[in-house]
Amino acid sequence: MPVKQLIGSLLVYVVAALGLKLPGAFAQDADLRLIVPDHLIESGFTQHLLPRFRFKTRIRVEAVAEGQTGAASLLPDDSAGVAVLSSSEGVPYFFASLSDDSDMQSKVGKLLDWLRSKPGRAAIEGFKPDGNQLFIPGAKKTVKKVAIEIEGDSDLGSKLALLHCGRCHVIDSRNPFGGIGSTPSFGALKTLPKWPDSFAAFWTINPHPAFTQIEGITPPFDPARPSPIAPIVMTIEEVEAIASFVSQLPAKDLGGAVEAR
Ligand code: HEC
Repeated sequence: MPVKQLIGSLLVYVVAALGLKLPGAFAQDADLRLIVPDHLIESGFTQHLLPRFRFKTRIRVEAVAEGQTGAASLLPDDSAGVAVLSSSEGVPYFFASLSDDSDMQSKVGKLLDWLRSKPGRAAIEGFKPDGNQLFIPGAKKTVKKVAIEIEGDSDLGSKLALLHCGRCHVIDSRNPFGGIGSTPSFGALKTLPKWPDSFAAFWTINPHPAFTQIEGITPPFDPARPSPIAPIVMTIEEVEAIASFVSQLPAKDLGGAVEAR
């Protein structure tokens, strides 16, 4: 065995025996795995960011691609999490905690705090491959709202809404006090992200099935349980017409948390 190689293996043996770790020589286990889209890894962004966090906290975060498991994620997807940065084009990236282990959650919390702290924000801003800043810390408050237009006869929908739904719901200025008690107004319902689905299928959602018939779709009322109120009988085109009318209604400004009132 050549001398060099012998010394090499002796060294490895000694290090192993002493329980030491050679920096860089052995892959260290990450304390926390962060799921990110491939382009954050490939651009070098996570390689720039995560060692800075480690330097502050001694917590080693490994960026892993989507499809792998991790304790947290940083993804351009608004379904969950807190927007902590956005691309220069304004696409927000959301940080979400995925672990239910309390020890892990505390590390994840530290990472989130750091990303939103001054040094974390500076680290995000400091990533400038070729001199161009690619990410902006935080996210603009106004996440672009896409106005949903639903096709249908909205004039007809306006009349039908007042006629059928206005018995319980406040529709608009035509029946400002017309709704009953705790029934949400259409303006309040419009603030719920799911409103298009709710209006398209309101007859499947309680309390409506008890008094609503959609021609050719819903089965007739059970004779043992007749409609408690004068039933609403509509065609599916009329349901679309109401949804179309609602798509043009302004959402009520609830000034904060959304409440179905
Ligand atoms: C007899 C009273 C009554 C009538 C008439 C009525 N609704 Fe409702 N509606 C309610 C109540 C009460 C709720 C709230 C239910 C809840 O939050 O549990 C509701 C909730 C809704 C919701 C929200 C459902 C969800 O996703 O939770 C939609 C959409 C809706 N109504 C549409 C309509 C439309 C369209 C009409 C007319 C074609 C109509 N409603 C007629 C009482 C009524």
